[in-house]
Amino acid sequence: MAKRVRLLVAIDGPAGAGKSTVARRVAERLGYVLVDTGALYRCVALAASRAGFTPHGELSEDDELAIGDLAKELAAGRQIQLEPSGRVVLDGEDVSRAIRSPEMSLGASRVSAIPRVREALLSMQRQAGEHGGAVMEGRDIGTVVFPDAEAKFFLTASAEQRAGRRHAELLEKGSAVTFDETLADVRRRDTADTDRPVAPLRQADDAVLVDSSTMAIDDVVDVIVREVRAREAQS
Ligand code: DC
Repeated sequence: MAKRVRLLVAIDGPAGAGKSTVARRVAERLGYVLVDTGALYRCVALAASRAGFTPHGELSEDDELAIGDLAKELAAGRQIQLEPSGRVVLDGEDVSRAIRSPEMSLGASRVSAIPRVREALLSMQRQAGEHGGAVMEGRDIGTVVFPDAEAKFFLTASAEQRAGRRHAELLEKGSAVTFDETLADVRRRDTADTDRPVAPLRQADDAVLVDSSTMAIDDVVDVIVREVRAREAQS
């Protein structure tokens, strides 16, 4: 593959490690575009739900096949658009908020384990980053989508820390969920993401591990930006 002048930056890691905030700020500082790949899986979950499936509930094998086909249609018809502003558009409609509901979080996690769905979204993700100058945030960017990314980071934090952040967010939204329930939920999602047979969540061998448990977000952003600039200078 031709050498990229502006790099492809992969930021992978589990939910709740502060990835979205970090990736957005890193992209702003570098003048790179941000590609939130989780939004693609969320769009598939939303489209599936609108087509009458229950991606956050029970899915039969036939349902999974049909959702795979649906994802292929969405990709072929370029029906999902991630705009530079961060707006997410599905079939011409702004779904930026709709895809962030707890049902769609669970639904996205479920549909992301369907091999046909992953396959359908792969070429979209590769097109979005092939020219470099992009920060791609996800679970398998450094391992599957762009194994040749010039700068890879695996951003993590302890389960307690991630549950703490998530719990605070939920309380703010008026939920009565307890910290222990949130922690159990985080652990369940970790197990599901790490143990799935296709593209499980794991750190790429050449990724820089950044543990945000004991670092301020600004420091995490600084570490990543500094590392990318050093690699830009070498390329
Ligand atoms: O980052 P997020 O919470 O918006 O992602 C939603 C779901 O999509 C999450 O459960 C894992 C899945 N996902 C994935 O499997 N691979 C990616 N590259 C991005 C997200």
